[in-house]
Amino acid sequence: MKFAVLTGGGDCSGMNAFIRAIVRCSINIHPETSVYGVIDGWKGLIYNNYRKLDKLAVAGIASQGGTILGTVRVQDLVTNTSLQETICQNLHDNHFDYLFVCGGNGSVKASNTINTYMRREGLRTRVLVSPGSIDNDVVNNAGSSIGFYSALDKSLEMLEWIRDTASAHRRVYLIKSMGRNSAYLAFYAGIATGAEYVIRPGEEVDFEKIATMIDERDRDTRIIVAEGYEKSLGEIREILEKLFVKRDLHHEIRSVDMSYFQRGGSAAVTDILRASWVAFCMVKDAFKKCGSGFYTAFYTGHHFPVIPLEIAADDELTSHEDIPADILELALALQ
Ligand code: F6P
Repeated sequence: MKFAVLTGGGDCSGMNAFIRAIVRCSINIHPETSVYGVIDGWKGLIYNNYRKLDKLAVAGIASQGGTILGTVRVQDLVTNTSLQETICQNLHDNHFDYLFVCGGNGSVKASNTINTYMRREGLRTRVLVSPGSIDNDVVNNAGSSIGFYSALDKSLEMLEWIRDTASAHRRVYLIKSMGRNSAYLAFYAGIATGAEYVIRPGEEVDFEKIATMIDERDRDTRIIVAEGYEKSLGEIREILEKLFVKRDLHHEIRSVDMSYFQRGGSAAVTDILRASWVAFCMVKDAFKKCGSGFYTAFYTGHHFPVIPLEIAADDELTSHEDIPADILELALALQ
């Protein structure tokens, strides 16, 4: 068989472990298999840019952050039908039996569109997808994305560093976290580090209450702001500073952005293991000539049913942007 492996969307730690496992499992199970890496994500499929991968090409990369194949965003892929047709025809003409994808929200939607076109036109390639994103906004009601726990580890470390300087100066820190529209990364990081407050996208924030909390603590206060929240760190700072003046309170505020740092660095062991497991399951199923589908990244060794791509691509059915009520309760219980 002939396989292609692609990493799409924002990079995350764990993608390299996925690539390595696709290559190694394929060649070790059936040595005659050829595996090609798609260079620069979806863009590589538009321009037929591939690199043949053997076992040596993926040696020593499992814990490495980023993706050795690269990932370039193609903004209009989900809407541009001529790009989609080009990709489908290229996959077919290159005789790829399966395309293995590790990517976020956009990649799941693109995979679904491409698979629909392929099936309708009777083309060759089947598409197997796994969630890879720090945002954890892909089918997160059944497991979590590869890369999410790695980004949490980095966030936790940064938040602990900020605590050191914040407590030395008794300051308030506004700390921006990535996550697109999803509250997961910011909120889970907040729980893990014991941040005083996490502002979630769409939240009606009671700034008076936050000002009171800051004053009552009268020491370090870390407020994490999720990327999807409507106000910038500067705007939040201005609101709080005005409240301090109005109430004759004296607190210093600083701001810091963790964003791109959260994406880099070595992968968490849980992400390496889950990425390897998911890739292994995909490859075994491909050798059984399975249909296209979405593989959740649950526990290593756990066989979660494969989800049809059209369901995985429907956020309404499979993903929460806000966190579930019982996790909110956990955060309150820990305060
Ligand atoms: O989807 C992953 C992510 O890191 C989001 O959290 C963020 O909104 C986005 O990518 C940033 O993308 P870019 O690297 O294109 O700026």
